[in-house]
Amino acid sequence: MAASVEDGLAEEGVVVVKLGSYGGDVRLLGGGEGEDSEAAVTETMLLWGIQQPMHSKPNAYVSQSSLALPLEACGHTLSVLQSPSSLGTPGVTGAVMWDSGVVLGKFLEHAVDSRKLVLQGKKVVELGSGCGLVGCIAALLGANTILTDLPDRIRLLKKNVETNIRRGVRGSATVRELTWGYDPDVELIEPLPDYVLGSDVIYNEEAVVDLLDTLMQLCGTQTTIILAGELRNDAILEYFLEAAMKDFIIGRVAHDQFHPDYQSRRVVMYVLVKK
Ligand SMILES: C[S@@+](CC[C@H](N)C(=O)[O-])C[C@H]1O[C@@H](n2cnc3c(N)ncnc32)[C@H](O)[C@@H]1O
Repeated sequence: MAASVEDGLAEEGVVVVKLGSYGGDVRLLGGGEGEDSEAAVTETMLLWGIQQPMHSKPNAYVSQSSLALPLEACGHTLSVLQSPSSLGTPGVTGAVMWDSGVVLGKFLEHAVDSRKLVLQGKKVVELGSGCGLVGCIAALLGANTILTDLPDRIRLLKKNVETNIRRGVRGSATVRELTWGYDPDVELIEPLPDYVLGSDVIYNEEAVVDLLDTLMQLCGTQTTIILAGELRNDAILEYFLEAAMKDFIIGRVAHDQFHPDYQSRRVVMYVLVKK
């Protein structure tokens, strides 16, 4: 599928393409001259220079101190249960929602509504699901979704799936343990997913190699990865992009393709396909 990339030049040095099964345009990273490292540096400079993320409000769409976060999506009022007290526990990040999860979830809804994405009947695996909003929205959009996270994050994740995904929804949602860098359960890879999703999963340099290892294990030539992240640390993003470009073609989704009500300048979104 990576070979079916249709490209065109939008402005000098900028290559706009369609990647994988996402029907919208993305701006190719490293599409011009130069090495992967140069492309990763250029990308982070562009993001921090143009988007000025530090000037936008953090936690614009979430309240991490609430026990439940309400959100309208796909004609449902979702209630995302959080555990604010766990936020103080070192290494625990998935007990509350993060902006990029809301942005990615609403992006999926908007992309399906605008016919740039089809999730109906597709197999979706979400990495680092946390409270599970993204995976729940994918299921409401018709996907057969497997939400994954570290073993100690599964209880809250299951509670959120039970609360928000009832009988009669178009797709399905199941929860499984998956620690990046370890072999995934066979259910996750047979067959390989159509989509792999992740929000705010690139925030720790030590986890980048394991995350990429898992992405490689989960992805075939027909798999499209969509990752959203908050612009907090340019060095970690640059490290991820440079490493990822060895095995994946990466395109950045323009903000005008995000859901119109969820376009934070602090959030960036990428589509990746295996080279
Ligand atoms: C910042 S939170 C984001 C949670 C959720 N995706 C969201 O956007 O609200 C990062 C998530 O990645 C998970 N995570 C971190 N390291 C992981 C690893 N090595 N293997 C699997 N999941 C991991 C965390 O448990 C957490 O749920």
